[in-house]
Amino acid sequence: MKQRVTWNCLDCDVEYPVSEGFIQFISDEEVFRSSKREAVMRAIYARFYSPLTRMMFIPCGGEKNARQEVLENLEITLDSLVLETGIGIGDNISYLNGILHGRPYYGLDNQQIMLRECNKNSHKWNQPVLLYRANAEALPFKDNSFDVVFHLGAINLFKDKKSAIDEMIRVARPGTRIVIADESEKASKLFAIFVGHHDPVVPPVDLIPSEMLEISLKSIWNDYGYLIKFRKPW
Ligand SMILES: C[S@@+](CC[C@H](N)C(=O)[O-])C[C@H]1O[C@@H](n2cnc3c(N)ncnc32)[C@H](O)[C@@H]1O
Repeated sequence: MKQRVTWNCLDCDVEYPVSEGFIQFISDEEVFRSSKREAVMRAIYARFYSPLTRMMFIPCGGEKNARQEVLENLEITLDSLVLETGIGIGDNISYLNGILHGRPYYGLDNQQIMLRECNKNSHKWNQPVLLYRANAEALPFKDNSFDVVFHLGAINLFKDKKSAIDEMIRVARPGTRIVIADESEKASKLFAIFVGHHDPVVPPVDLIPSEMLEISLKSIWNDYGYLIKFRKPW
């Protein structure tokens, strides 16, 4: 008989299931509650994720350049604890490997299939990664936990962007720079050729609370992307 593994949160006294080593703060039912179509589309996307990602980065200057254009904004030092929300299969880790010095990297994603691939990749790259299945809009971490908090590539489609940003701020230590990047309106229009529709993209800079410091929005990826960065006050 298969044993049911759970993890008990001592702070909130809730028992969460553990599947393939990942604490499940969210279930398939919750992720795909909105539509079956979304579940099917996401499964297809996950299956062809790497080649599709490489292809999507071509107009942005190529995957390596495009990722570096984002990652160079992170303030990683020798003892930083890094959190990436919406980590996917962990592609950014391979670019940061040289500066993480074997320190664990924290990542979360709401799709089990992505976490599974990310876990395999972390072994391949010999980089310890602590992975959680959770929603970026409700992070399962305590306040003021991380020195680097960033997100790349999904916030345009988040149902609740404001909560996702507020959560990044909550778990960041005072003084942390927070970085958010995604496709711009120009990219969304281009990809509409393949998906048949496009939702207008508005970089969510107006959702950054006004008390944050050094708030900036800039165009990246040959105008196919935007990058928002700001600092949590000390
Ligand atoms: C385009 S991928 C980018 C992955 C990674 N950040 C990168 O740069 O390669 C976006 C990822 O965000 C995840 N995602 C989408 N919505 C999410 C949400 N609300 N909470 C957590 N993860 C989410 C998807 O499952 C997917 O793995």
